[in-house]
Amino acid sequence: MLKIKNLSIQFGQQKPAVEDFNLMMEEGEIVSIVGESGSGKTTLARAILGALPGTGHITSGDILFHGESLKEKHNQKWQNLRGTKISMIFQDCGVTLNPIRKIGSQYMEYIRIHSSLSRQEARDKAMDMLNKMRLSDSDNIMNSYPHQLSGGMRQRVGIAMAMTFQPELLLADEPTSALDVTTQAQIVHEMMTLREAFGTGILLITHNLGVASFMSDKLIVMQHGKIVDQGITKEVITNPCSDYTKKLLNSVPEIGGERYV
Ligand SMILES: Nc1ncnc2c1ncn2[C@@H]1O[C@H](COP(=O)(O)OP(=O)(O)OP(=O)(O)O)[C@@H](O)[C@H]1O
Ligand SMILES: [Mg+2]
Repeated sequence: MLKIKNLSIQFGQQKPAVEDFNLMMEEGEIVSIVGESGSGKTTLARAILGALPGTGHITSGDILFHGESLKEKHNQKWQNLRGTKISMIFQDCGVTLNPIRKIGSQYMEYIRIHSSLSRQEARDKAMDMLNKMRLSDSDNIMNSYPHQLSGGMRQRVGIAMAMTFQPELLLADEPTSALDVTTQAQIVHEMMTLREAFGTGILLITHNLGVASFMSDKLIVMQHGKIVDQGITKEVITNPCSDYTKKLLNSVPEIGGERYV
């Protein structure tokens, strides 16, 4: 489904933020990327979405979605893919949601931009997705402003929106790191259910090696813009190549004498 070949990305004339990145991702697969701050994780996700900020640009390599280069897509084609076949959830959806508009009006507008549904149909669809994310009082949620919801609820709204058109690929950049541990576990569970229900492939970016190893089929470890470990999650964890990954594994806390990796 997604193939990234020798991708390098640079901001202006700085040294590359991402260097020679390679990835093969199949339908319904969950791939996690872990790595320290500044290692290029968000930059990579934004490149896949065609939304590099500022002076960011691809210097070499390619990104293929079902064999078609995303690099060569024209704006209109991008628009059609983005938010439908490929969508993204961010660290704190509260930041992405407009604070001065009610959830319902933002959500319905989003649906109507990407489809030809009527207002009523868009409303029904939004409520249905909120229910699927176990936000059961969906009427109330639709009538709320983002700040009236808890962080976990906002994140569920963000995931519901991202899942509206049953994307084939969900890019999730630190979707749980702003949340407490219990809520994190619920969101992780929710995302795994979506994979089961819709066959959504998920590219998960996280600092949390525990979450990554629990959720993902494949694991990628990045440092300074480069891949230092990559493979089947279990293999990477039991037999890491790089010293950096070994260090990461050693720093995962033990809980009650049990390691969660
Ligand atoms: N808008 C930007 N303008 C210029 N340089 C940028 C920009 N965004 C990122 N960079 C550069 O790209 C590098 C990688 O940043 P990126 O945000 O991708 O890291 P990250 O792995 O997502 O970090 P974090 O874990 O903190 O989110 C940074 O070191 C920075 O130098
Ligand atoms: Mg980031």
